[in-house]
Amino acid sequence: MSQILPHARIEPVNDTSIALAGDMLRHGQLVAFPTETVYGLGADATDDRAVAAIYAAKGRPSFNPLIVHVADPDDCAALVRVDDRARLVMARFWPGPLTLVLPRAAGSPVSLLASAGLDTIAIRMPGHDVARAVIRAAGRPIAAPSANRSGAVSPTRAEHVAESLGGRVALIVDGGACRVGVESTVLDLSTERPTLLRPGGVTAEQLEAVLGQPLACPHQDPEAPKSPGMLASHYAPGLPVRLDATHAAADEALLGFGAMDCTLNLSPSGDLEEAAANLFAFLRRLDERDYRGIAVAPIPETGLGVAINDRLRRAAAPRS
Ligand code: TXA
Ligand code: MG
Repeated sequence: MSQILPHARIEPVNDTSIALAGDMLRHGQLVAFPTETVYGLGADATDDRAVAAIYAAKGRPSFNPLIVHVADPDDCAALVRVDDRARLVMARFWPGPLTLVLPRAAGSPVSLLASAGLDTIAIRMPGHDVARAVIRAAGRPIAAPSANRSGAVSPTRAEHVAESLGGRVALIVDGGACRVGVESTVLDLSTERPTLLRPGGVTAEQLEAVLGQPLACPHQDPEAPKSPGMLASHYAPGLPVRLDATHAAADEALLGFGAMDCTLNLSPSGDLEEAAANLFAFLRRLDERDYRGIAVAPIPETGLGVAINDRLRRAAAPRS
């Protein structure tokens, strides 16, 4: 039986709907808006709970790192470390369908959940007036994957978003059809050799011409991992991780869930969105202390628990 969703609220672009979108985003709600590539499912990138709501709405079985959207290149400096190479390609291709993966800046306010715990952040300035107006109205960097349920095709019209997400999104700003129709190019500039993680509207040749060097293209190498999500070297704690624990052994930290005695509790009330919001920040906090290992309480394998358990299983897998 298919689930009946409440209808999505769709508003045409005008000053009122842009102001409303900004207000909702500042209050941790999800707002879908057009970019030049596809519609984005936006949330305040500095708010762990709002970012957790993105993953819940998309129904993704894992935490893929998300793209953080800004309205102005100057807004990047507080979020990521911008070097000369990055400045060069930003000057040439922004605003536009190019995402840059850069090292997280010290004190960056971007949610660790948005970057799936990584030390890098993917950032872009969209080439669509409505997208930038929404980001400006929010006054925050905006995390936004494509505005569709996991596995569905990318949405290039407001109706596609409504069909896929329905009432899971507080507001859809209807800016008509997207011009490009495929997602942005993802270029990793956190590595010595610039690396093309996802092909898109801005081509490898265009980037090579500006950077003056060939790009590494792992997706064309049959030996390399297939999906860009897999490429991101996943964050894993330095300490061994033990799953489905009810008690901590001597010198072990206990990461809890639900009512229990533990070192840190992902969600004392057993709320999976709260647990997702806390997951990476808490793992890092425990990893910094003088423990021998991290024991983790069982997490239900439902809703966002599937993505949480996926990440925990990776963290607990034997290391090579
Ligand atoms: O055109 C687009 O980029 C659209 C619109 C809404 O802006 N957004 C989009 O987001 O496609 P999403 O979440 O569907 O794709 C994000 C891509 C994934 O391939 C992800 O693996 C990669 O960016 N990514 C994000 N952060 C990363 C990081 N820190 N390191 C490596 N790859 C990263
Ligand atoms: Mg997508």
